[in-house]
Amino acid sequence: MTSYKELGFVNTNDMFKKAYTGKYAVPAYNFNNMEQIQAIITACLKTQSPVILQVSAGARKYANADLLRGMAKGAIDMMKKMAKDEGLKEIPVALHLDHGATFEICKDCIDSGFSSVMIDGSHHSFEDNIALTTKVVEYAHAHDVTVEGELGVLAGIEDDVVAEKSNYTKPEEVEEFVKKTGVDSLAISIGTSHGAYKFKVNNESEIPPLRFDILEEIERKLPNFPIVLHGSSSIPQEAVKIINEHGGKIEKAFGVPEAQLRKASQLSVCKINIDSDGRLWMTASIRKFFDENPSKFDPRGYLGAGREALTKMYEKKNREVLGSAQN
Ligand code: G3H
Ligand code: 13P
Ligand code: ZN
Repeated sequence: MTSYKELGFVNTNDMFKKAYTGKYAVPAYNFNNMEQIQAIITACLKTQSPVILQVSAGARKYANADLLRGMAKGAIDMMKKMAKDEGLKEIPVALHLDHGATFEICKDCIDSGFSSVMIDGSHHSFEDNIALTTKVVEYAHAHDVTVEGELGVLAGIEDDVVAEKSNYTKPEEVEEFVKKTGVDSLAISIGTSHGAYKFKVNNESEIPPLRFDILEEIERKLPNFPIVLHGSSSIPQEAVKIINEHGGKIEKAFGVPEAQLRKASQLSVCKINIDSDGRLWMTASIRKFFDENPSKFDPRGYLGAGREALTKMYEKKNREVLGSAQN
């Protein structure tokens, strides 16, 4: 058993309290490799933003769970040294399991040093979701680990479940769910969705707005309670254009407009999950690098270009979209 406290992480309690009163959202960025985590830490330290490092089951499978945990621990050491060298304050970092499907994966993460877990019971019945979430909360809270639950199903691909249409969160269910389970935050469905193809539309002007009416009703039922938005990439058209100009083929890919995320983060949304935008910028910069440097073959060249693009993107998100930058 390794406690997250020994590794230098924090749980999300204090982060969300400050985010709620400060009217911003804490960024939750997924990582699978070294360049992504370097970019996340560098950008968040520079902007003095708290950050949630997210690990999915797929990331654990791809990179090896022990190696990923070691990388996250290394990221804390890197952040502390960089802060000292650059005269900056250290930032709070949480290590979070994204979309935990079972009690067992949540327990495994808690036992190995995660400070926060998501138990995603959203595709179960309301009663089964409550039972599963409660079991995770009991174990997590005994170790001072925070838990995110979910009510409502996002359109797009969520875990291995493909939801054709959004199943918006029912505001009349949230109070009972939170009271019975004891979760620390709640992911809701108000029109965001996972991946690069969020909406079946032909251009940006046709993107349906998020259901702020549902968010506001949930806020009335759960005052001062942190809400989480998944599927919140904005699918930057500039990155899509670069990909397509350099041999890629990404068509009719649109995301959640940044202005709507800005508005949500000023309301009760305290955590915003972004993964696809980073994937797009990484791909765009690597494709461009290959096209422009046909004779180069050192991975540090093209992965370094990807890391640079990611760092810029995370900085911009913290400053202009989530409002989490304090510097
Ligand atoms: O919500 C899902 C995240 O973007 C993680 O995706 O399961 O492909 O690692 P993944
Ligand atoms: P995006 O696919 O919109 O980046 O969403 C990521 C996410 O919700 C991770 O849990
Ligand atoms: Zn998600």
